[in-house]
Amino acid sequence: MGRVQGKVALITGAARGQGRAHALRLAQEGADIVAVDVADDPYGWLPYPAATPADLAETVRLVEAEDRRIIARKADVRDRPALQAVVDEAIAEFGHIDVVCANAGISPMGPKAWEITPEQWDDVIGVNFTGVWNTTSVVIPHMIERQSGSIIITASGAAVRPVPNLSDYSGAKAGVVGFMKSLAQEVGRYRIRVNVIAPCTVNTPMIQHDSLYKLFCPGIAEPTREDVMEVLRRRVNLIPEPWIEPVDVANAALWLASDEARYVTGVVLPVDLGVCIK
Ligand SMILES: NC(=O)c1ccc[n+]([C@@H]2O[C@H](COP(=O)([O-])OP(=O)(O)OC[C@H]3O[C@@H](n4cnc5c(N)ncnc54)[C@H](O)[C@@H]3O)[C@@H](O)[C@H]2O)c1
Repeated sequence: MGRVQGKVALITGAARGQGRAHALRLAQEGADIVAVDVADDPYGWLPYPAATPADLAETVRLVEAEDRRIIARKADVRDRPALQAVVDEAIAEFGHIDVVCANAGISPMGPKAWEITPEQWDDVIGVNFTGVWNTTSVVIPHMIERQSGSIIITASGAAVRPVPNLSDYSGAKAGVVGFMKSLAQEVGRYRIRVNVIAPCTVNTPMIQHDSLYKLFCPGIAEPTREDVMEVLRRRVNLIPEPWIEPVDVANAALWLASDEARYVTGVVLPVDLGVCIK
């Protein structure tokens, strides 16, 4: 038997990166998947390419290759009625949702707090903070009926150890930590668990671009990927690796989703090469 055999997991931001790794890892351990992603660029200012419908289709292919079922829908986590429609469809199809991975997120890069445009501010708070509220809110009534559930919210090391040039992102990620702790208190009596994962730099398209390279290497005019790897390995992380892989975060999500973590709630779980205690 798989570690999450028979469970159904709803994952936002599932088209690629960590969300896709969550979908695949949970499917490998027996879960059926409800994959949600905007799979588009509704922002116009992202410093890296947005995910596409082809990315979401690849997640479907990978999950089906594990002989698990998957519903994949394009939806924006800021759009609560769209999320509700996906949840209703999933419950009609699968009968239940046991796990929620509120993983969708966007990362700005560059502006100082006072230079952030109101549009970018609203996008980052809307997706990374309000999106988590929306995602959890549309599933919790169902989980209360079932008297069980595991909610896993992806924050960031930037919530615990904020960095400059990411104040909107850090604020949103710190916000979901507070939200998680409050929510965990509200739903514990229904045997619903709520936890946060706080990853350090993860090797996804979100971080592999010039703006972030410049942030990590302010002393180098045109830093390369190798320059960044060197800085992260030697100066930033306790364990001398530049970054972790999506599967490293997915393994933590798998554990929190599984009954192995049945009495774990209200925690912030770092998966971070020790960066937050350095
Ligand atoms: N990559 C890192 O270094 C890192 C570190 C810590 C935390 N995180 C967080 O991990 C999560 C996953 O990021 P990733 O590294 O896989 O990046 P990614 O860009 O590869 O994946 C993010 C996914 O979220 C989707 N998404 C964006 N806006 C959305 C919206 N409005 N509605 C629905 N889906 C939307 C994107 O289309 C994409 O598929 C994010 O919350 C991110 O903030 C990332």
